Amino acid sequence: MWIYAAVFLLLSGAWSDDQGTNQSTVNSITSPPPKVYESRILYFNNGNDVNLTCGNKTWKETIYVIWNITFKDCRISLDDKGQSRDSCEDGKSLQNTSNFQPYLHIPNFSHADEGIYKCESPYTGGAKNVLIKVITTVSPNLSMWVEPNGNETVAFCKAERGKPAANISWNRAENSSSEETRESNGFFTVESRLVLPEGTDTEGLRCLVRHPCWEGEKTVGRQEHRKGNVPWLCFLIVVVITLLLAGFLFIALKKLRPLWQCQQSDPSSSKSPPMEDVEEVEPYASYVQRVNSIYNSSADLFT
Ligand SMILES: *[C@@H]1O[C@H](CO)[C@@H](O)[C@H](O)[C@H]1NC(C)=O
Ligand SMILES: *[C@@H]1O[C@H](CO)[C@@H](O)[C@H](O)[C@H]1NC(C)=O
Ligand SMILES: *[C@@H]1O[C@H](CO)[C@@H](O)[C@H](O)[C@H]1NC(C)=O
Ligand SMILES: *[C@@H]1O[C@H](CO)[C@@H](O)[C@H](O)[C@H]1NC(C)=O
Repeated sequence: MWIYAAVFLLLSGAWSDDQGTNQSTVNSITSPPPKVYESRILYFNNGNDVNLTCGNKTWKETIYVIWNITFKDCRISLDDKGQSRDSCEDGKSLQNTSNFQPYLHIPNFSHADEGIYKCESPYTGGAKNVLIKVITTVSPNLSMWVEPNGNETVAFCKAERGKPAANISWNRAENSSSEETRESNGFFTVESRLVLPEGTDTEGLRCLVRHPCWEGEKTVGRQEHRKGNVPWLCFLIVVVITLLLAGFLFIALKKLRPLWQCQQSDPSSSKSPPMEDVEEVEPYASYVQRVNSIYNSSADLFT
C-alpha cells in the first residue's frame, strides 16, 4: 500500500510540476514493479471442486506462486524452474489451465477448507498479492406471509441465516424493497416487503429466492410457511371468545339473582331492603354534615 501511495504521490507531483512533460516521463518514474493487492470473499458449496486463481499471468511471465493456507499453517508453491513444495499434503494442488496459468485446486470442498488463502505471485514487471476468504455456503430458511397494513396489504418474504445473502424477488411487478441484515458468524438474513393495494388476491403470490446453494430459484407461497402461526391464532381467538362468554355469563347471573329472590319471597318483603339501606347510610350523612359545619365555622374564624 505504501509503495502504491508513494507512486501515486510521485505521479501527481510530476503532473502538477510540469504540465508540458508527457506520458513518457511518468512511465520512467513508475519503474519499480507495481505490486497489486487484492482481496476477495468467495462462497463454495460442499462437495464441489474449487479452483482459486491468483492472477491471469501465464507461466511465461510468472516467477513463482506461493499459496499460504493460513488456518492450516501450510503452504503450496511452485516456481518457473518447476520446483514445487507442498507442506499441506491434503489433496490441494497447483495446476495449470490450458493456456498455462497457474491455479490452486481444492478437490471435494468441505467445511474443513473454509478459511483464508493468501497468494503471492511475482512476475516480470510486477507482483500480485491476493487474500481470499473462502466460505462454505449455507442455505437460508424461507418463509412468506401477508399482513394487512391500513389500506394496503404487505407481503413479506424472508430468507433467514444463509451464506451468502439470498436474492429475493416476486412474481408480481409491484414495488418491493429488500433489507439485508448481517447476523453473527457471517450469516445473512434478507427480508423483502411487497406493498399491494388493499383487497389484492394473494393466493397466487409467490416470492422467488435465488441462492448459490441451489440451482435456479425456489418459489415460496403463502400457505407453505408460517404454519406455526395458525394454531397460535386459533388459540388466541378461543381464549378471547371464552373470556367474553364468561363475562356475559357473570353479568347475566348478577342481573338475574335479585329476580330469583323476588320470585321466592312475597311482594311486601321485597320493599323493605331499600328502607334498611337508608337507615344504615343516615348516620354517616349526619356525621359529614357535622364535620362540614365545623369546617365552615373555622373558615369563618379565619376570614
Ligand atoms: C502528450 O501526448 C499526447 C498523446 O499521447 C499528445 O497529443 C500531446 O500533444 C502531448 N503533449 C505534450 C506537451 O507533449
Ligand atoms: C504447470 O506449468 C509449469 C510451468 O510450465 C510446470 O512446471 C508444472 O509442472 C505444470 N504443472 C502441472 C500440474 O502441469
Ligand atoms: C467428499 O468428501 C466427503 C466427506 O468429506 C465424502 O463423504 C465424499 O465421499 C467425498 N467425495 C468425493 C467424490 O471424494
Ligand atoms: C414505485 O416506487 C417508485 C420509487 O420509490 C415510485 O415513484 C412509484 O410511484 C412506485 N410505484 C408504485 C406502483 O407504487
